[in-house]
Amino acid sequence: MASLTHWNRLVRYVSAKNGQVRYGEPIIDSTTDIDQQIAAGAAVKVRVLKGSSALTAVPTDEEDTIQQLLGPLSPAEVPIVRCTGLNYKSHIAESGFDFPEYPTLFLKPNQAIADTREAIPIPKLAQSHCDYEGELTIVIGKDAKNVSEADALDYVAGYVVGNDISCRDWQLDKAKAGMIQQWCFSKSFDKYAPLGPAIVSTKVLGDASGLRLKTYVNDELRQDSNTSDLLFGVRKLVSFLSTGQTLEKGSLIMSGTPGGVGAAMKPTPQFLTNGDEVVVEIEGIGTLRNVIRFE
Ligand SMILES: *[C@@H]1O[C@H](CO)[C@@H](O)[C@H](O)[C@H]1NC(C)=O
Ligand SMILES: *[C@@H]1O[C@H](CO)[C@@H](O)[C@H](O)[C@H]1NC(C)=O
Repeated sequence: MASLTHWNRLVRYVSAKNGQVRYGEPIIDSTTDIDQQIAAGAAVKVRVLKGSSALTAVPTDEEDTIQQLLGPLSPAEVPIVRCTGLNYKSHIAESGFDFPEYPTLFLKPNQAIADTREAIPIPKLAQSHCDYEGELTIVIGKDAKNVSEADALDYVAGYVVGNDISCRDWQLDKAKAGMIQQWCFSKSFDKYAPLGPAIVSTKVLGDASGLRLKTYVNDELRQDSNTSDLLFGVRKLVSFLSTGQTLEKGSLIMSGTPGGVGAAMKPTPQFLTNGDEVVVEIEGIGTLRNVIRFE
């Protein structure tokens, strides 16, 4: 398989050298979590990657140090975010549904992209039922249309950790969402799709199956699953979503969330409030960390 990227792991960061936003390949072993290094106050070194976008960046000989870690993609690099509804088998079963034959899809605009470690602004109308959804997120590396499952990985640059921030009343409450559940308005507010800490190449992760995914709210473990439980895996999603629709280079596919969201907690749902910290970890990719900020 020809690789779509010149790097294995890419971060976007503010340079300690010159204060500019740059791309880099972290110079730490692949099992070390960049976010934890930064939280511990360690100086994380990178090899500078040069280029006008994450997907085209190429290695240089220059070393640099991260002053501030950003998300790996800026909104301008992402044409659109395609999202999958119910997709973890355990979650579909616990929700009492039969397994669907085809994935359920919705879209987020690119202004929903946010950086790891950035506060997520929650507008007043969306503050009563704010929820998290930790998700494996696919980064499309080359325009894809009508791609077979066998060829699907040739179009995937890599994977990043995502959080599909959701506002359950505007999604489900008939008085607000209308008679049919609607997912776009309730999940598309600015910065409702934070990404981080790095994009890890398909060269390293293959089809990203068998990776543990965990979500914490203020250090309390809420979601604990494994991407091997996805009903529609990466190959199937890329193939089905590209049928008759071009998945443009830079587009993202958020693959759905496992059980354990706040809205499903028993006996009482627990929604996010001002100042809550949500952390999503995916094995092999790292930790995405954001604080909820009521506007
Ligand atoms: C999609 O691609 C397959 C295999 O390349 C081909 O058989 C099929 O006709 C194509 N379908 C459309 C709608 O283009
Ligand atoms: C995730 O699933 C894969 C495949 O079933 C398994 O090999 C791996 O041990 C699982 N990881 C964890 C942390 O449970």
